[in-house]
Amino acid sequence: MTALTDSSHWQHLSSLAAQVKQQHLRDWFAADPQRAQRYTVAACGIELDYSKNLITNDVMQALQGLAQHCEVNVKRDAMFKGKVINHTEKRAVLHTALRNYSGQPVILDGEDVMPEVQACQQKIKAFVDKVHRGECLGYTGKPLTQIVSIGIGGSFLGPKIMSEALKPYWYKGVKVHYVANVDGCHIQDVLANLDHQETLVVMSSKSFTTQETLQNTLTAKAWFLKAGGSQKDIAKHFVAVSSNIKAATDFGMAADNIFPMWDWVGGRYSLWSAIGLPIALTIGYEHYEALLKGAYAMDKHFQQAPVEQNLPMILALLGVWYINFFGAQSHVLLPYYHYLRGFPAYVQQLDMESNGKRIAGASEVTDYPTGPLIWGSEGTNGQHSFHQLIHQGTLLIPADFMLPLNVPNQDKTHHAMLASNCFGQTQALMQGKTLAECKADLASKNLDAATLDSLAAHKTMPGNKPSNTLLFQQLDPSTLGALVALYEHKVFVQGAIWGVNSFDQWGVELGKELGNQVLDKLVNTESALNFDASTNQLISKFRQANG
Ligand code: F6P
Repeated sequence: MTALTDSSHWQHLSSLAAQVKQQHLRDWFAADPQRAQRYTVAACGIELDYSKNLITNDVMQALQGLAQHCEVNVKRDAMFKGKVINHTEKRAVLHTALRNYSGQPVILDGEDVMPEVQACQQKIKAFVDKVHRGECLGYTGKPLTQIVSIGIGGSFLGPKIMSEALKPYWYKGVKVHYVANVDGCHIQDVLANLDHQETLVVMSSKSFTTQETLQNTLTAKAWFLKAGGSQKDIAKHFVAVSSNIKAATDFGMAADNIFPMWDWVGGRYSLWSAIGLPIALTIGYEHYEALLKGAYAMDKHFQQAPVEQNLPMILALLGVWYINFFGAQSHVLLPYYHYLRGFPAYVQQLDMESNGKRIAGASEVTDYPTGPLIWGSEGTNGQHSFHQLIHQGTLLIPADFMLPLNVPNQDKTHHAMLASNCFGQTQALMQGKTLAECKADLASKNLDAATLDSLAAHKTMPGNKPSNTLLFQQLDPSTLGALVALYEHKVFVQGAIWGVNSFDQWGVELGKELGNQVLDKLVNTESALNFDASTNQLISKFRQANG
């Protein structure tokens, strides 16, 4: 046993889980008219109804006790103060400094990082305003209106998904296109429809070493030169965002065209840095700033709100409850808002790259599950496919439903239907449908007894499936910022409880290393193959197919 599973808090939660497994949410709602109100909290434009969870006051208190035992608050304060909490990479974790509107300094190695952060924000603002005024001109004098954003992972998901979510706020004069994958089809398709004279390429790579991003930028450069641009015109059409200024300059980026970031900003937390430039280009700096301020509001809430009203704490503790005491292996995110459809993919990287770990503390292998599989898609589409498994399958899959109560230019009928499906799903998951109810429904159908019994069994829905519902008055930039920060802090709290380092990602490194070795064999077709038999065979087939 590890210290965590051996603790009295853990043991107590195990015995509470055994008791709760004998109960049904439907009975709790019937017995307690105050339940919904009691388990609803609101902050920063987000209202969370967590009453449809398998919890009692005792459970919540025990989970809060576990958080205290794991010193979550101490670890949280260490993060905000710039302590080196990413201990395997020896880095501070300060994405919160990028949205620090407190007027207070954030000290790292004896220096306030805020002046540099603010200077970069001013640079972004000036650049975005210039583009939007039509004053950012290409080499032939045409305004740059087509932006190609090249990046992958955190240097892609945040900008693309947050821009998508804020479609009602788009600035009309420019269009941003995203390229992430090294699959040539992607960049070819994007560039095929663009006029190079009006195109601005924003290359986003924190490390400036990511193969996909470097190659896609080289391809964009070759396309630009082939279309008529010359080497000296590149400076007008290519900018970069990176913490590796030297590599960016060596690559040929003009020094003025590099927007800096810092090693204390993790890739999956980087949309708040200059990596967010494509968002600002899409919605304008004012709205982009509102996004940052919404995240800042959630930071304050996370630091100041008591644990029983603290949204990130509540979501995190509920997750721990299901993962560690109910065997849940996944968590589904269900935004009932078309523009927020990318959010599950965003949280997928945030959560899985952060807490997909098995070492706690210095080197202890955990004897408890950690980060879950995160998945999901927009409602109501999922209802006509995978919801079946959540309702009647054998797995327990906690769900987060999300719905803006108002959307710009909404069609009342569509919006009411959307909301009714969202609420109806949470209700169906919670209450289910008993065998007796199914039999009663079938009674008038003139079926023989065996058919009726069988059909009723198939139609029975166990219910007791947990869900959270997050409501927003409107998903404006500020609320979206708060929502993203909410999930960041949820992931943080879970990592703090499990004792993992939520800020490194060694697991992805081996794949990158081996990918490069294999690339060498694909390119140098005469070289001997010295991998395992399967990999050798795959390489041989590729060599044959490609001459
Ligand atoms: O693939 C892992 C990763 O390191 C992510 O954490 C990161 O967001 C992505 O690659 C892109 O990295 P970079 O911004 O350095 O190109």
